[in-house]
Amino acid sequence: MRAVARARARLLSLLVVVNFLLYVVVELLRRGHEPAVIIPRRAFWKSFTPSRAYWNRRQQTLERLYNPILAVLSNTTVAQRVSSEGAAFCSCHPDLAVASEVRGFKNLPNRFQDFLRYYRCRDYPLLMDQPHKCSPKAPFLLLAIKSAIPHIDRRQAIRKSWGKEVTSGDFTIARVFLLGQTPPEDNFPDLSDLLQFESQTHRDILLWDYKDTFFNLTLKEVLFLKWATRTCPGARFVFKGDDDVFVNTYQVLDYLKSLTKSKAENLFIGDVIKDARPKREKKLKYYIPETIYRGFYPPYAGGGGYLYSGKLVPKLTNISDQVLLYPIDDVYTGMCLRKLGLAPEKHRGFKTFDIKKKHRDNICNYTKLILVHSRKPQEIVKIWKHLQDPHLNC
Ligand SMILES: *[C@@H]1O[C@H](CO)[C@@H](O)[C@H](O)[C@H]1NC(C)=O
Ligand SMILES: *[C@@H]1O[C@H](CO)[C@@H](O)[C@H](O)[C@H]1NC(C)=O
Ligand SMILES: *[C@@H]1O[C@H](CO)[C@@H](O)[C@H](O)[C@H]1NC(C)=O
Ligand SMILES: *[C@@H]1O[C@H](CO)[C@@H](O)[C@H](O)[C@H]1NC(C)=O
Repeated sequence: MRAVARARARLLSLLVVVNFLLYVVVELLRRGHEPAVIIPRRAFWKSFTPSRAYWNRRQQTLERLYNPILAVLSNTTVAQRVSSEGAAFCSCHPDLAVASEVRGFKNLPNRFQDFLRYYRCRDYPLLMDQPHKCSPKAPFLLLAIKSAIPHIDRRQAIRKSWGKEVTSGDFTIARVFLLGQTPPEDNFPDLSDLLQFESQTHRDILLWDYKDTFFNLTLKEVLFLKWATRTCPGARFVFKGDDDVFVNTYQVLDYLKSLTKSKAENLFIGDVIKDARPKREKKLKYYIPETIYRGFYPPYAGGGGYLYSGKLVPKLTNISDQVLLYPIDDVYTGMCLRKLGLAPEKHRGFKTFDIKKKHRDNICNYTKLILVHSRKPQEIVKIWKHLQDPHLNC
């Protein structure tokens, strides 16, 4: 009996050692080529979702479509499955069935009904393009600024300050503004002639033919990613942010130049929010009903502005096909990163909740930060002017 027990104990410890070695080998292999910030690939929406929520349920179905094991089991490939069944997730006909598939659809605020009818469509014509933005030489930094047609003064302030397209040595900065439509049926005044003039004068307008609303900002993200993959594949870094922020471009460049090669390739920094959940108070801008989404949000960088490696652009573009559009754009980007096995990293220079009021008028409080939200066009011009002061002494 004793001999058997001893043999068993020996076998057990052997197994433990073998397991440990396997773990070490796998970890080492993984470290070899994977990015610095790794988090588990487990889908964050699964464990918390009894899939009664519409988005979760549809996302689970989409994931089955991309599941390679299920493809093998049905004697096909993922590509074949996607081409035969993918239309259900990617269509520009309004989804009329959704009204009966989401509980209480009729009582949802209009923006949700609108979102649910149209979220499957990701293909909208590009009405104003800048096809030569990144040629012949790809920029070191591409600034992609979410704006809206009426915000002419914000764009002009940015052009004359932190968003200048400059070249110093090897470091070129290129700038585009991302716009959708503000249509007459919603009583927006017609500014199309002005916009045409602006685009011809500054060559920095990208306009897509979809309605520019808060819930459509995710569409703006996906359309931009596709544009950047196609038209600006060589950009080393991308900054994407709002048109009401001040960016200290000098700090951004200093920071980017200081990065090691491996850090630079997997960079994604901003004001990162962790362990967030959807807001359930109906009055809030970020309200999401329980019938639509349940679970936590993955870590995400606040949409006021984030900075990332150009290498991530095609990866995000590809993976975005596997994540249903979500009504909140920065959360959506967090979801895509999560699916890539990445997490955004917090950087203290991003002040999306502003700096203390008593410090706002002191220019020295702007020399070390990367971004501060929010600033009016006049404030943006003023801060920038002060930063140029050769006598600046901080
Ligand atoms: C799997 O599909 C291939 C062609 O696509 C076919 O030749 C083969 O017989 C199929 N195998 C099974 C087990 O159905
Ligand atoms: C997004 O844009 C599309 C295309 O213009 C529009 O049909 C849809 O209603 C918009 N969605 C929201 C939520 O505004
Ligand atoms: C993106 O997907 C395309 C087509 O599936 C593939 O050729 C390309 O290598 C992918 N790119 C990246 C960066 O994953
Ligand atoms: C702002 O400047 C004050 C000095 O005027 C300094 O004490 C404070 O730490 C600065 N705050 C930030 C956020 O830089």
